[in-house]
Amino acid sequence: MLFGKRILLIIGGGIAAYKSLELIRRSRERGALVRVVMTAAAQHFVSKLSAASLSGDKVYDDLFSLTDEAEMGHIELSREADLIVVAPATADLLAKMAHGLANDLAATVLLATDKRILAAPAMNVRMWLHPATRRNVATLLADGVRFVGPHAGDMACGEFGPGRMAEPAEIVEAAGVAVQGDTRLPLPAGLDLRHDRPLAGKKVIITSGPTFEPIDPVRYIGNHSSGKQGHAIAAAAASAGADVILISGPVAIADPVGMRVVHVTTAQEMYEAVVAQLPADIFISVAAVADWRIAEPAGQKISKSSAAPVLTTVENPDILASVAHRAQGRPTLVIGFAAETQNVIEHARAKLQRKGCDLIVANDVSSAHGVMGGTRNTVHLVTATGVVDWPTMDKEEVARRLVAHIAALLPAKTAGEKS
Ligand code: CTP
Repeated sequence: MLFGKRILLIIGGGIAAYKSLELIRRSRERGALVRVVMTAAAQHFVSKLSAASLSGDKVYDDLFSLTDEAEMGHIELSREADLIVVAPATADLLAKMAHGLANDLAATVLLATDKRILAAPAMNVRMWLHPATRRNVATLLADGVRFVGPHAGDMACGEFGPGRMAEPAEIVEAAGVAVQGDTRLPLPAGLDLRHDRPLAGKKVIITSGPTFEPIDPVRYIGNHSSGKQGHAIAAAAASAGADVILISGPVAIADPVGMRVVHVTTAQEMYEAVVAQLPADIFISVAAVADWRIAEPAGQKISKSSAAPVLTTVENPDILASVAHRAQGRPTLVIGFAAETQNVIEHARAKLQRKGCDLIVANDVSSAHGVMGGTRNTVHLVTATGVVDWPTMDKEEVARRLVAHIAALLPAKTAGEKS
């Protein structure tokens, strides 16, 4: 989709600028012609020489350069491209773009262009969530600027949350979409323009991660769930204004910010933690809960010298089903996940009925799909009225869309309850 297309890449001054070098390389691999403009701040992070070597062209950075102006005026520079990509789009650059400032070459080109602009924001999470940045992004979206990312994750500044620049491969893909004039690009993280904080005042309980069922003091039965999807949903719900209680099994990822997190190990503990937090408006059961536990875990480590152990199991409580079937104090919306390795939709439909929930998010977790532990997910939304298939996307994007979907479902469900 990028073959033969001219991309003007504007590199802003942020730590993510180093990824923009990789972006030049990948865009050229796809057949794009890349011309680079760098801000003065960007040159603290990457050199003009690196960008010039990778793009195979000179790098522009001076608004008042007579030589540059004689070669190619800044108006021409802004118009000859098929697409302008701003990566990293810093808080400062976004503010300049939103307010129409033109005090350096990058800002001037962005103001003078009549071409499509794709921005890949990168900044500290607080800067990204600051009302000023949110206003600027809202303005730019209304102006038709497209966005890719940012994503939630560990940041160079040591914080966690949305603000990390999308990976070069993803930006290249988004550039391919944007250059076609397609509007399918998702809304940026932490931003829902239609309903800015659609879950404000709502209490949401979310389970995430695996449960570990002890065999003896050192061994357990577990599963491959990483908690990434559940934690991302919790973060998205918190960004949407919800009062979130995340009940997490043992995971290796950090607690998301802006919510209460309860750590548990076994299914029984998870069940008790959920019940203790009820009532709630919404329950989202993302955890991969062990269906069975060992009936009587050994008090001491089982030695190899003893006879091979026979593990007798008993069934764990079904947390989702028990919450959904509560006669009193059932949350308005109860949402389950279905981890399937075959006949995904058929099994999800059966689970929807059996567990009594309002929506099942079904995904194929067979190892070929790399969902468990991976960063991307392909889900299908199964309700009593039908199935909606979503394309493969980042778990963060699944989370944001799911939260937007839930926020849209909630008023109708609440009205239904009252009537
Ligand atoms: N779940 C739960 N408590 C359990 C088992 C599952 O709350 N003891 C929830 C999961 O969080 C998920 C949904 O039920 O939202 C479906 O989980 P899944 O493992 O796909 O289904 P199972 O109930 O284990 O059914 P099966 O083993 O037949 O697939």
